[in-house]
Amino acid sequence: MKNITYLLLLLLTAAACTPADRKLVIGVSQCSEDIWREKQNRELKTGQYLYDNVKLRFASARDNDQKQVEQINRFIDEPVDLLIVSPNQVNTISTVIDKAYARGIPVILFDRKTDSKNYTAFMGADNFEIGKTMGTLIANTLNGRGKVVEIMGLKGSSPAIERHRGFAEALQRYPGITLITSEQGDWTEQSGEQAMRKVLDEASDVDVVFGQNDRLAMGARRTVQAELPDRAVRYFGVDGLPGKDGGIVAVKNGLMTATYIYPTHGTELMQLAMNILERKPYRRENRLQSAIVTKNNADVLLMQYTELEKQSRNIDLLHRQVDTYFDRLNSQKTTIAMAVALILILIFSAIMLYRTTLMKSRLNDELLHRNDELQRLSHEIEEMTQAQLTFFTNVSHELRTPLTLIADPVQRLAADATITGERHELLSLASRNVGVLMQLVNDILDFRKVQNGKMSLRLSHFSLSEAITAWTRDFTAAAARHDITLTLHTDPETDYSITADRDKLMRVFGNLMSNALKYTPAGGKIDVTTGRTDDGQLRFSVSDTGMGIDADELPKVFERFFQTRHSTGGTGIGLALVKAFTELHHGQVTVQSEKGQGTAFTVTLPVTQQGALAEDAAEAASAPFTAPAEAEPTTLTAAFAALNDETEGKETVLVIDDNADVRAYVRSVLGGKYTVTEADNGRAGLETARREVPDLVVCDVMMPVMDGLEFTNELKNDTATSHIPVVLLTARTLDDQRIEGYQQGADAYITKPFTAKVLMARVENLLRTRQNLRRLYASQSVASTPQTPADAASAAADGFVANSRDQAFIARLRQVIQQNMTDSDLNVEKIGSEIGLGRVQLYRKVKALTGSSPVELLRTARLQRARTLILTTDKTISEIAYEVGFTAPSYFAKCFKDEFGMAPGEVRQE
Ligand code: FRU
Repeated sequence: MKNITYLLLLLLTAAACTPADRKLVIGVSQCSEDIWREKQNRELKTGQYLYDNVKLRFASARDNDQKQVEQINRFIDEPVDLLIVSPNQVNTISTVIDKAYARGIPVILFDRKTDSKNYTAFMGADNFEIGKTMGTLIANTLNGRGKVVEIMGLKGSSPAIERHRGFAEALQRYPGITLITSEQGDWTEQSGEQAMRKVLDEASDVDVVFGQNDRLAMGARRTVQAELPDRAVRYFGVDGLPGKDGGIVAVKNGLMTATYIYPTHGTELMQLAMNILERKPYRRENRLQSAIVTKNNADVLLMQYTELEKQSRNIDLLHRQVDTYFDRLNSQKTTIAMAVALILILIFSAIMLYRTTLMKSRLNDELLHRNDELQRLSHEIEEMTQAQLTFFTNVSHELRTPLTLIADPVQRLAADATITGERHELLSLASRNVGVLMQLVNDILDFRKVQNGKMSLRLSHFSLSEAITAWTRDFTAAAARHDITLTLHTDPETDYSITADRDKLMRVFGNLMSNALKYTPAGGKIDVTTGRTDDGQLRFSVSDTGMGIDADELPKVFERFFQTRHSTGGTGIGLALVKAFTELHHGQVTVQSEKGQGTAFTVTLPVTQQGALAEDAAEAASAPFTAPAEAEPTTLTAAFAALNDETEGKETVLVIDDNADVRAYVRSVLGGKYTVTEADNGRAGLETARREVPDLVVCDVMMPVMDGLEFTNELKNDTATSHIPVVLLTARTLDDQRIEGYQQGADAYITKPFTAKVLMARVENLLRTRQNLRRLYASQSVASTPQTPADAASAAADGFVANSRDQAFIARLRQVIQQNMTDSDLNVEKIGSEIGLGRVQLYRKVKALTGSSPVELLRTARLQRARTLILTTDKTISEIAYEVGFTAPSYFAKCFKDEFGMAPGEVRQE
C-alpha cells in the first residue's frame, strides 16, 4: 500500500517534469554596464517572451577582460545551450570563446568582434561605415574647413578600431579639415572628459569633437564648457539612445549636433539565437542598418521611441501578468495534480480497504461457516453423548429390576446361618459384588439426575461427626483386610450440627473412602478428619498415603468418566458424583496430591441449606450404608422374621407388574404375612381390585395396556376401591414422576432397586394407617354422630387423612342406615344397591374402612338407636325392638346385652 502510494507520487512528479518542459538556457555575457547595454538586455527579455521554453542568464564584466573570461567559463560549465557574447576587446577573450565553441555551445558575437573565426553567428552594425558617415557629416557641417578632435572608445575593442578607420578615411577626402588628434577613451563619459582635457592642453581652437559614442562626446563637452566656456564647439556622437541621458535628447536640446543610432536590436538577437537552437535557417553575418539623428528628426525619433517604450512597457506588463497567470496556473496545476494524486490515493485506499474488508468478510464468513460446522459437530457429539448417556441411563434403569431380584435373594441366603463354609463364602462374594453393581447403577442414575437438574436435597438435621464416625466404622473391616490403618480424627469440642442430605453425604464419603482404599497400598494409612473452617463451615477430609495423582491430571479428577493414567479400573463416575453432590449442598470439594506421597480430598459444607426438612428424611437417614465396595451385607433379620410370622385373617395384597419375576419376588417378600394376588397389567389389576377389593395394591408404573398411574387414578375414582392404598413400584426415580404418582392418588412410592425391608415396612405402615382410620370410623358411630373435629385431628396425627370419596361414602352409608334401620328387611344387598356397590364390594370396603362388616354396623346402629329410645321414651322394650328393625324381641335382648353388657331393662332402670 505504502509502496504504491509512493509510486503514484513519483509518476505525478515525473509528469510535471517532461522533456518538453525543460527550458533552453541562453547565457548573455555583456562587456559593460551602461544604458545601451540595459536597453539591449530589456529587448532580449522582450524577445524571450515570444518563446516559452527559453531562459536567459545575464552576466556583466564591467569592462574587465578577466572577469568576462571567468563568467563565460561558468556558462560553459553550467552548461548553457547558447552563448551571446559582446567581447570587451578583440583578442583578450578569444580563447574562452573558442573553448565554448569547441564544446558544441553555439556562440553569437554581438556588437563587438574577436580575432577568432570560431563563432556561430555575428550580429551588429557596420562600425567602419558609422565612422565614415560621421566623418563626412562633420566635414559637411564645417563646410570643408575646420579643426576636429576624435575621442575613441576602449583600445582594442573592435568598434573603436573600425569607427576610427571609417572616420579617418572620410576626413582624408577633405583637405581643409584638420584631425587635431584621435585621443583614446574607454567608452565612458569620464574618459571623454579626461581625453578632452588632454586635447585642450595642446590646442584650444577646436571646432568639432567626434566622440565614438555619445557618452565620450558629452564628457568632452563638459571639459570644454569648464575650460573654454566661450568657445563654440560642436559635438558629434554615436549610439543615439532615447531617454533623458541618451543622445537623441542631447541633440534635441542642442547639446550635440548629431548622433548615429547604434542599434541594440535585442529582439532580433533573440530570434537569431532561437533559430540556431531550434535548428532553423539563419545567417552567420547579420549587419544592422541604422540612421543619423540631427535636430531635424530628433523630435520624431523621440516620439517614436517614447511610443515604443510605452508599447514595450505594456508588453512587459502583459508579460508579467501572463507570468503571474502562469504562476497561478502552475500553482493551480500543482494543486490539481496534488488533488488528483490525493483522490487517486483515496480511491486506491478505498479499493484496498474494500478488498481488505471483502477479504475480511470472506474470512469471517469462512470462520462463521467453520464455527457453524464446529457447533453442528459439537451439537452432534453432544446429541450422541446424550443419546449414549440416555442409553446408559435406560440400561441402568433396566438393570435395577433384575439387580433387585438378584440382590435380595442372595443377601437373604448369605444371611442364612445354616449355610456355611465354602458355599457361604461364595454367597458373600456374590452379595458383595451385587452391592458394588447396584452402587454403580445408582451412581450413574444419580449423576444423570444431578445433570438434568432433577436432583434435590432431602434435608435432615444431624451431627456430621457422628455420621462420619458411623460411616468410617463401616469401612474398618475392609481397611483391616487390606492392612491399611484407618484413623478418624474429630474434635469433641466442635459443634458438628448440620442440615444436609445425609444420604448424599454418605455417598460422597463412601466414594472418597472407596477411592482411598483402592489406591493405598498394604501397610499404608487413611486418615479421616473432620473440623470447622475459619468462616464457620464444616469440613471433612479423606487423605491417604497412596500413589498420588500427576499434577497435570489433578484439575480433571472430578470430570465425568475421567480416569487417571494409573487408574486400576472403575468408571470415573465416583468423583464426579462427589463433586455434584457437594455442589448441590453449595459446598466445595478440593484435592491435593503429591506423587508417591498420597492424596487428600477435602469437602467443605455450609451448616445450613435452604428448604424444608423432608418428612421421611429420618427414615432415609437411618437407612444402612448403601453399598460401599467392601461393606458387609445388609442383614434383614427383622424383615424376614416378620415375613415368616403366620398371622390370622391375613390381609390381601394385589401385586400388579408386567414382570413375572418382580411379582414372584414381591410375593416372596409379602406372601408370608399377606394373601397375595397378582395381575400383569393395570387393566387386569383394576378388574381384580374391583372384584376382590384387596387391602393394598403394589403396582408397577410402566406397564403395557394400562400403566400404574392410570390404574391408580381409576382405582381412586371408584367408590368400591377408592379406599385401597396403592404403593407404586418403579425404576423411575425422577421427582416429578413421583409427584405425578401422588397426584393420581398413590399412597406411597418405592423405587427399584428396593430391599425387602423397605417394601415390607411401607406395606405395613400403610395398613397400620388404615387401622387408624378404622379406629376413626369406629369411634364415630355410623349409626348416629357425625365426625368430630377431635376425631379428624387424631386421624391426621396418625398420618392419615381419609380421602373425600371415602368420607362421602361413610356419610352416605350412615344416611342409608339411619333412614332405613326400622325396616326389618334392610340387609347388606339393600344397602349395597342404595349405595351402588355389590355385596362383596360393600362388605370389603366397609370392613376395610371401619373394621366391621355392614351387618355388624347395621346391628350396632339399631342397638344404639334402641338404647337412645329406652333412655328417652316410655315405649316398651318390645315396641322399641320392632321400631329399630328387630323381628324378635328376645333376639334384640341378646344382641343388646352383647353390645352394651346390660339387658335393655337394666338400662331403663338406671
Ligand atoms: C556600450 C557602448 C556603446 C558603444 C558600443 C561599442 O557599451 O560603449 O556606447 O557604441 O558600446 O561597442
